[in-house]
Amino acid sequence: MSIRATSQVLGVIGDPVAHSFSPDMHNAAIAALDVDYCYVAFHVLPDRVGEALKGLRGLNIRGLNVTIPHKLAVMEHLDRISEEALAVGAVNTISREEDELVGYNTDVYGVLRALRDIAEIETFPAHCVVLGAGGAARAVTYALGTQDGVQRVTILNRTVKRAEALAVDMEKITGTKMDVGALDADVQCRAFTDAGVVVNTTSLGMYPEVNSSPLADVSAVHSDLVLYDTVFNPLETQLMRAFQSVGALAFGGLDMLVFQGARSFAIWTGVEPPTDVMKNVVVKRVGTKNEK
Ligand SMILES: NC(=O)c1ccc[n+]([C@@H]2O[C@H](COP(=O)([O-])OP(=O)(O)OC[C@H]3O[C@@H](n4cnc5c(N)ncnc54)[C@H](OP(=O)(O)O)[C@@H]3O)[C@@H](O)[C@H]2O)c1
Repeated sequence: MSIRATSQVLGVIGDPVAHSFSPDMHNAAIAALDVDYCYVAFHVLPDRVGEALKGLRGLNIRGLNVTIPHKLAVMEHLDRISEEALAVGAVNTISREEDELVGYNTDVYGVLRALRDIAEIETFPAHCVVLGAGGAARAVTYALGTQDGVQRVTILNRTVKRAEALAVDMEKITGTKMDVGALDADVQCRAFTDAGVVVNTTSLGMYPEVNSSPLADVSAVHSDLVLYDTVFNPLETQLMRAFQSVGALAFGGLDMLVFQGARSFAIWTGVEPPTDVMKNVVVKRVGTKNEK
């Protein structure tokens, strides 16, 4: 891949941002397609978000990904926001279209494509369970709540008040019934009984805390469940192993990461990127990072 005077600039803003896999993933896609773009990481402090977005316009930057903690803060600086991003309440992709800055949320697409293509869910079950009620949970509950066939989503979170607030929002937006509860063993056991899909959106199990898990008791898990763990580092989590131990299918969050990135890439360039190339580079990077 060579950067020329004609290259269009893409990037990610975050604080911190040095850990991001997005530059590896997008530059691998740019190189594979031999298109005239380059992707860089910008460390933007919270009080500089407005200036950063003015800079995007001023420097003619084509588009940005937005990561923690700016996904909400960028919204007031945009000209337009997609329906999905408004519903989720977070923007993870900004595209400069004509002279407008347009905000999107590609996590919804990412998790749905991972559930369909990787977990091979053709028909969504009537009852789904979401563990966690943070930023990722907003995208996941919206994604599940808008699928045909889903009649109820149960949100279980350490802080039940946060789950309640999310449930009220998402029930209003999606029209699907949302129940809430704590992450306790008996609550999980009841919630899992008639559920078909469980999505973990808590950060439990994420590197370096690889021995933590949101599952209170493995006896709550049955073999008809499909687990999607949005944690992507490590590639296989303790939670995934617990589900696999009773014969349930379990998938890690790497594909969601790749598919949300692929969607951003397509928004900016109009080209569908090679997701296998993007995935391979992140798999390698996860391995190298954890060895250090
Ligand atoms: N695969 C992907 O593309 C993708 C995309 C986005 C996010 N993610 C993953 O999703 C996870 C959450 O990200 P986020 O942006 O939603 O973070 P967040 O907004 O900070 O939410 C964190 C969630 O984890 C829970 N949690 C944290 N520590 C806990 C503990 N010790 N015990 C019980 N619950 C705990 C929080 O519960 P409380 O509300 O009680 O604090 C909250 O529900 C991360 O692992 C991230 O890597 C993956």
